[in-house]
Amino acid sequence: MLKRSGKVYLSGNTGLLGSSALRLLKDRGFKNILVRNHKRLDLTRQLDVEKFFKNERPAYCFMAAAKVGGILANRTLTGQFIYDNLMIEANIINAAYISGVKKLLFYASACSYPVDSRQPMKEEYFLTGRPEHTNISYAVAKIAGITLCQAYRAQYGCNFICAVPTNAYGPRDNFDLKDAHVIPALIRRFHDAKIKGDKKIILWGTGKPKREFIYSDDVANASLFLMDHYNSPDIINIGSGCEISVKDLSNLVKDVIGYRGSIAFDRTKPDGASRKLLDSTRINRLGWRARVSIEEGIKKTYDWFIKEYHANEV
Ligand SMILES: NC(=O)c1ccc[n+]([C@@H]2O[C@H](COP(=O)([O-])OP(=O)(O)OC[C@H]3O[C@@H](n4cnc5c(N)ncnc54)[C@H](OP(=O)(O)O)[C@@H]3O)[C@@H](O)[C@H]2O)c1
Repeated sequence: MLKRSGKVYLSGNTGLLGSSALRLLKDRGFKNILVRNHKRLDLTRQLDVEKFFKNERPAYCFMAAAKVGGILANRTLTGQFIYDNLMIEANIINAAYISGVKKLLFYASACSYPVDSRQPMKEEYFLTGRPEHTNISYAVAKIAGITLCQAYRAQYGCNFICAVPTNAYGPRDNFDLKDAHVIPALIRRFHDAKIKGDKKIILWGTGKPKREFIYSDDVANASLFLMDHYNSPDIINIGSGCEISVKDLSNLVKDVIGYRGSIAFDRTKPDGASRKLLDSTRINRLGWRARVSIEEGIKKTYDWFIKEYHANEV
C-alpha cells in the first residue's frame, strides 16, 4: 500500500490518463504530488531527468508520459514514436532506480500483444507473436518499456510494475480529427454534423468489428489499486469488459449528442481486426472492476468537450 504522505511523481499529467490520475491522487489524500509539464521537463533528455530525480527523490512514480497518436501519426512519425518513447522509458526507469524510487507503474499498451492474438487477450500471450506492423515503432517501444521494468526488477530488485490499459477515452482526450482515437473522433464528427445540420454521416467499414473501451477515471482507479496491491513482474491488463460493435457505439454517440441525421457505412473501406478485447480476469480476481458504463462515460466526455475544448475553439 502506498503511503499517502509519500512523494509521488506523475509524468504526463496534462494527458488523458495522467490528468485522471492527478485528480484521483488528490481525491485519495496524496498531499505531496510532483508534476512537471513537457515544456518544463523534456523527458527525452537524460541529464535533465537524472537531475530532476536526484533533486526531488520521489518515493513513487506513475509513468503516464509518452508519445501517443492515432493511425496516421503512428504510420508517418515512425522515428519520433520509437525515439521519444524509448528515451522517456529508459530515462525515467533508470533515474527511478538510481534515486531509489520504491514503486513505479509503467503503462504498456494492448498493441504490444501479437496482431493475430487469440481473443480475449490474456497476459501470457505477450511476446508470443509479432505486433501489428502499422504501429510497430510504438509497439516495440512499449515492449521495451515492459522489458526495462522486468530487467530492473530481476537485476536490482526494483518494484516496477507494468499495466496494459485497453482503449481509454474521457475528458482531455484528443479531438483533432487528424489524429483522434475512435470515441473522440465520433464525438467530434457527430457534434460538427449536428451544428452544420448535415443529413448523413458516413463511417468507414461495416460497423461490425467489436472493440473494448474504458473511461479514463477507471484506468486511474485501477492504476492506484495496482500500485497499492500488485507486486509482480508479469504485465497485468486493465480492461472494462465492455465490448461494443462500431455500429452500436456510433448509435450511442449519436444519441448522446442528439444528432438527428442518419449513419451510413462505407463497406469498401477496411474494418481492421474483427475483435480486440483484453482478458481482465487477473485484475478482477485481485478485487478490481471498472465502474463507469460506456453510456455514462460518453456523456461525461461530451460534457467536457462542450464546456472546455469546444468552448475554447470558438
Ligand atoms: N489512451 C489510451 O487509450 C491508452 C491505452 C493504453 C495505454 N496507454 C498509455 O498510457 C500512457 C498515457 O496515454 P494518454 O492517452 O494519456 O496520452 P496523452 O493524452 O497523449 O498524454 C501524454 C502525456 O505525455 C506528455 N509527454 C509526451 N512527450 C513528453 C516528453 N518528451 N516530455 C515530457 N512529457 C511528455 C504529454 O505532454 P504534451 O502533450 O505537452 O506533449 C502528455 O502530458 C501512454 O504511455 C500510453 O501509451 C494509453
